[in-house]
Amino acid sequence: MKAIPVIAIDGPAASGKGAVAQAVADKLVFHYLDSGAIYRAAALAVEFAEKDIDSPDLTEGEIANIAADMDLKFKGGEIWLSNHNITDSVRSEQCGKNASKIAVLPALRAALLDLQHSFRRAPGLVAEGRDMGTVVFPDAVLKIFLTASAEIRAERRHKQLMEKGINANIENLLYEIKLRDARDRERNIAPLRTGNDTVTIDTSALDLPQSIAAVLKTYRSLAKAGAKNRGSPEGSDD
Ligand code: DC
Repeated sequence: MKAIPVIAIDGPAASGKGAVAQAVADKLVFHYLDSGAIYRAAALAVEFAEKDIDSPDLTEGEIANIAADMDLKFKGGEIWLSNHNITDSVRSEQCGKNASKIAVLPALRAALLDLQHSFRRAPGLVAEGRDMGTVVFPDAVLKIFLTASAEIRAERRHKQLMEKGINANIENLLYEIKLRDARDRERNIAPLRTGNDTVTIDTSALDLPQSIAAVLKTYRSLAKAGAKNRGSPEGSDD
């Protein structure tokens, strides 16, 4: 039986991969995995357990156990951790920063693998994060690296926050984005990186509909090429 297709969309913070991945999933009627939300929820779970993420006494094993025991549910557009609606709190800059700090821990990453794999259901999955194509779904049919310059990403994040009525300083956002990029790229385990089998899409000069169209076009041309190969006598199915 053919594996359920996965489209992996990886990229740095605020590259727009969340909005793009969600829209691509909606368009293809595929399931959607926001793996960053899982790391963010794990950071909140540590907080709910009244542990200080920055404390040298908090061990990697404790953090991994807390994450493995999470009762995490994605319902409609909401995210629930036990009986807490964390839909808004996972989106805070502080939560993103804490998620990035614990994401360097191998035991935590291992503890979250099964949960991420459980999102792979028919007819298909669009998974976004940092290591979807490299580690979690290495057999993804399409691997996209969605990026944009740090300055453009800071501007977009600023606009998003202002629209939500949250005051933010663009210089601080740029500083935080660069810091998070460095942490996500330079960690030893599952670092953010592109592979030979990855299509890079730079959205610096693209708006959201254009970015969505670029991913869909790549997926459709891949599907078309696959169908052509299957139809031709010398075509291969893999
Ligand atoms: O995509 P995001 O900003 O919501 O992710 C928050 C943090 O979680 C990010 O800085 C690094 C970590 N993360 C990760 O290490 N691996 C993933 N697949 C997704 C997120």
